[in-house]
Amino acid sequence: MGNSKKIRIAIDGFSSTGKSTIAKQLAKKLSYIYVDTGAMYRAVTWYAMQHNFIDNDSFNSKQLINDLDKIALKFKWNEKLGYATIYLNKVNVEKEIRSLAVSKLVSKVSTISEVRKKLVAQQKKMGKNRGVVMDGRDIGTVVFKDAELKLFMTASANKRALRRYKELLDSGDDVSYDAILKNVEYRDYIDSTRDDSPLIKAENAIEFDNSNMSLEEQFDRIYNLALNVINK
Ligand code: DC
Repeated sequence: MGNSKKIRIAIDGFSSTGKSTIAKQLAKKLSYIYVDTGAMYRAVTWYAMQHNFIDNDSFNSKQLINDLDKIALKFKWNEKLGYATIYLNKVNVEKEIRSLAVSKLVSKVSTISEVRKKLVAQQKKMGKNRGVVMDGRDIGTVVFKDAELKLFMTASANKRALRRYKELLDSGDDVSYDAILKNVEYRDYIDSTRDDSPLIKAENAIEFDNSNMSLEEQFDRIYNLALNVINK
C-alpha cells in the first residue's frame, strides 16, 4: 500500500449479512484495523446480564446507566484467529457475547442513548488515524458521517438466519432454526425503529444485497471500490 492515503470504511446493515466477514477480510488485505461495534454492544449486554440488570422479562436500564463508568472494553489482537477479540474489564468475552441469550437482549440495550454515547465516543477515537474498517448499524450515519467509503449490506431474513444457525451449531450451541429466524426478525425491527440512531442506509452508502451472491464475489467488488477511493 506504500504511501497511499488511508481511509475509513463504514459497513452498516442488518444482522448476519456477512458484514463482519467482509470487514475482516478487507482490513487484512489493506492492513487496516477492523472494529466490530456489534461486539461492543454485546459486551455491554453481557455485563448487564451478569449483574442481573436485564433478563427476558425485565430491564433496569437505570442501573446499567449508573454502571457505565465501570465498563471498560478493549480489543486485543488474537494471532491465532487473525483478528482482535473483545475484553470486558480485562476478561475475554468473545465466546459469551455470541450466544443466542445475548442476541436476544442486545437490541434492547442498544436503544439506550447513554450506552450509545459512550460506545460511539470510543469508536470515533479508534478511527482517528483512519486506516479502519468498522461495521455496525450507525457507522455511516453517526460514527463516521464523513467516511470516505460507506457500504450498506442486506440479505433476506431466511438466508441470514440460516447463516447464523450454522455458525452457532459449529460453535457447539444447541439452537433451533426457528428461534434464530425469530431473533433475526425481532432485531431487524428494533434496530430499525429505535429513536436513537436507527439502522438506515446513509444517503451516500452503496447497497449490496447478498442473498444470492457469494461472499467471495462481493468481497472482490468491495475491495475494488476501496482501491478506487484510496487511489483517487
Ligand atoms: O452486528 P451484531 O449482530 O453483532 O450487533 C448486535 C446488536 O448490537 C444489534 O442487534 C444492534 C446493536 N448494534 C447497534 O445498535 N449499533 C451498532 N453500531 C452495532 C450494533
